[in-house]
Amino acid sequence: MNNHIEIKHTIKPFHKSIEVSSDKSISIRSVLLASQAIGKSRIYNILESEDVINSLKAIKKLGINFKKFKKFYEIDGFGINGYNTNKKITIDAGNSGTLARLLLGLLVNSKKQIKLTGDESLSKRDFLRVTDPLQKFGVNIETKKNCLPVKITGSEFLRPIKYNEKLGSAQCKSAVMLAALKTPGKTIIEAKKSRDHTELLFKYLKIPIKISKTKKFDLIEIIGPSNFKRFDYKIPGDISSSSFFIVLTLLSRNSKIRIKNVNVNNSRTGIIKILNKMNAKISLKNKKNYRGELLADIVVKSKNNLKGIDCPENLNSSAIDEFLVIFLVAAKARGVSTFRNLSELNKKESPRLEMAIKFLKMIGVKFIRKKDNIKIYGNPEISLRGKYTISNFRKDHRVFMMSCIAALSFGGRWIIENKDSINTSFPNFIKLLKYLGGKINWEN
Ligand code: S3P
Repeated sequence: MNNHIEIKHTIKPFHKSIEVSSDKSISIRSVLLASQAIGKSRIYNILESEDVINSLKAIKKLGINFKKFKKFYEIDGFGINGYNTNKKITIDAGNSGTLARLLLGLLVNSKKQIKLTGDESLSKRDFLRVTDPLQKFGVNIETKKNCLPVKITGSEFLRPIKYNEKLGSAQCKSAVMLAALKTPGKTIIEAKKSRDHTELLFKYLKIPIKISKTKKFDLIEIIGPSNFKRFDYKIPGDISSSSFFIVLTLLSRNSKIRIKNVNVNNSRTGIIKILNKMNAKISLKNKKNYRGELLADIVVKSKNNLKGIDCPENLNSSAIDEFLVIFLVAAKARGVSTFRNLSELNKKESPRLEMAIKFLKMIGVKFIRKKDNIKIYGNPEISLRGKYTISNFRKDHRVFMMSCIAALSFGGRWIIENKDSINTSFPNFIKLLKYLGGKINWEN
């Protein structure tokens, strides 16, 4: 068995300050938008993970040059009609749903057919959710049973659409926003709440966008076509990557951590709201605004009186990538935790609700699952002694990292396969665990 790690000891108390990897969502959005700007944009502190590298490779295939400097990537855009789509090409999005879906939005004016492919995990994910609205702009899209490969041929005669986004998917919303950028007239999107990095970037870039918010939905109006100028952007830390360290600290003994300069945009901080309702007392320090995004240091201390939660459904989308680690906290909290309507969890790099269930069963945590709802019966004394192997999880980076946190917090002897999965979003993950004192072994 190659490429696996072993963990045999829980982590000793730590008091540390760290920086996690840069935000993946914003890195991909910055690369794609810079590739459509007029002039040379500079993206500082970009996340150098596989999903982002695949985004850079994708724009390169579309004729956009970029250069890596010591502190930034320079991306040389020619405006919203600047992609070279004069010949049929294939673009491989690797593992990244964000890249694949957002890029489709930018290809609505391609001249020739562009084929989009992905790895085994991405090829199992639903693309109908994005091809359906994009088709309404007047483009031609073929899918293989609603999945990748997707073939898109753009149109010279795009027409604006009215789109009701009901899943709470930022990827679908953003794909339509990017298509609207190229389409003459007013595109109107009524979107269930989801992360709003694309909206904030549009505003910063002075792209004509109007947003009105109600409790559950955002009404977004974009007037296209709209070119925009080159820009500079410095990517902050990723709260999804931070979540592993937040939970490790909470579940460990006598420990404290400060995670510096993280994006704590309200549409991403569901994990903090949920854990604070469970008595975690996580605080945000040094808050500042950067290009419309809220940044802060996240400060967390160990807690031994965590309690169960009846998780409000309206927090689901702002914690969507963090539920695996939130379930670990529920497993150690006093009392029952209830989470509802998690169908979107099964639409990720692996079917994460199914993975969570398999995992909780394996470590002996009591739960009841009914359809997309789960009740977890916590045990503050949880302590594991058995042998556990984590395999067959479609190389899902977040399943791998959650398993490491469980091993370092709850004990037991663990073998966790597919170490390389972390390269998708958080290449420094194991290095940081070791920096905190985690004992992790592998053979090269
Ligand atoms: C993302 C949106 C979410 C999230 C994914 C990144 C984005 O997916 O799970 O990791 O960058 O827009 P959905 O839009 O499918 O909910």
